[in-house]
Amino acid sequence: MARGAFGRVYKAKSKRDGATVALKTVDLAGLKRHERAEAVDEARTLSRLAHPNIVRHLDSFIDGDTLGIVMEWLPGGTAHALARAGLQGGPGGRGGCADEVAAWRIFLGALSGLVHLHSKRVIHRDVKSMNLFLDGEGHARVGDLGIARQRVTHRGGSSGGDGAARAGPC
Ligand SMILES: Nc1ncnc2c1ncn2[C@@H]1O[C@H](COP(=O)(O)OP(=O)(O)O)[C@@H](O)[C@H]1O
Ligand SMILES: [Mg+2]
Repeated sequence: MARGAFGRVYKAKSKRDGATVALKTVDLAGLKRHERAEAVDEARTLSRLAHPNIVRHLDSFIDGDTLGIVMEWLPGGTAHALARAGLQGGPGGRGGCADEVAAWRIFLGALSGLVHLHSKRVIHRDVKSMNLFLDGEGHARVGDLGIARQRVTHRGGSSGGDGAARAGPC
């Protein structure tokens, strides 16, 4: 399906129940220590979240040097692709506009997902339309927590976080 900076995303079929899933694989071999930690963190963070506006984590594993993250398959593409398609949908392929109700639904869904992330002390740090995925009914799910951060203190509660956390969107 897609190839990113560190990994690839495949449309896959679960052997367990035949369901279509998204399989994100990250090659850990060439990564620096902190990059490996970030990759594993994505799986760990996602596995702790359960919300209708956050991409659902199904499983994750390490196989040799490959990290695999299995997620629900979201057939609607990204909000970015939808916006582009809308803008190209006008006469002559220019000047069209996205459906307003659909745009509000996506926007509110994204906010709801982010509120949940923040309630779990997670900051996403890469919020953009390319990381907003759509289900079959056009509802938004926040995904790609590849560089997200968990804000914790030594006491286990919330804090101002580290430098990376302060650089985030909250
Ligand atoms: N759950 C999913 N369902 C369908 N497609 C997905 C899913 N997750 C990722 N993709 C596809 O893979 C692309 C990259 O995924 P993403 O998680 O943003 O990784 P990165 O940006 O780090 O490469 C997305 O733009 C989308 O096309
Ligand atoms: Mg992405």
